[in-house]
Amino acid sequence: MHTNVAPLRILGISGSIRTGSYNTGLLRAAAEMLPSSMRLELLSLAELPLYNQDLEEQGNPPSVAQLRERITAADALLIACPEYNYSITGVLKNAIDWASRPAGKAPLTGKPAAIIGAGGRFGTVRAQLHLRQVCTHLTMPVLLSPEFMVVRAWECFDQHGNLTDLPTRERLHEVLVALERWARLFAPISA
Ligand SMILES: Cc1cc2nc3c(=O)[nH]c(=O)nc-3n(C[C@H](O)[C@H](O)[C@H](O)COP(=O)(O)O)c2cc1C
Repeated sequence: MHTNVAPLRILGISGSIRTGSYNTGLLRAAAEMLPSSMRLELLSLAELPLYNQDLEEQGNPPSVAQLRERITAADALLIACPEYNYSITGVLKNAIDWASRPAGKAPLTGKPAAIIGAGGRFGTVRAQLHLRQVCTHLTMPVLLSPEFMVVRAWECFDQHGNLTDLPTRERLHEVLVALERWARLFAPISA
């Protein structure tokens, strides 16, 4: 399938910058099992300053410029969304704010995406719903199905933050296949 078209370029963004993050581990696992018709690069949010309109008006700092360029260059995003206090992390929201300007013509405007997440008893479902709302404002078409949450993440990862649970790995693969179909609907990739 898709042998005559260019690979779909996916940018993986984790909303956690901690060492051993389960959510970053999901993205690493996705990279390992990626269909050959896709490419996945990971982008760390660790260097981003807090959004400040003054900074933006002075010219975007290098880490912000890089974030914006890499989102623009990607055909779709794979966002790994941890849950903090029933919502998305400040780290992730901050990155979204930087890439959401100017309104209507931002790197994120209309960018296809899939959301995945690893967390506790509810597997980030509340944060994912909040993230979907933010994406709606940015007219981002977010994959509807399959949904992907890892409950009790500590049982599915090893001590280094690598995804070891096989059924979860299979579900993640299904998300990648669905994301490719989805993203190609919105941004047909030329031969
Ligand atoms: C400030 C803070 C708030 C949190 N709030 C929630 C929460 O509301 N719901 C939840 O399931 N887990 C919550 N957690 C636990 C995180 O889901 C858990 O630390 C998870 O491993 C974070 O993702 P990561 O492994 O990718 O860093 C919270 C953790 C922190 C540090």
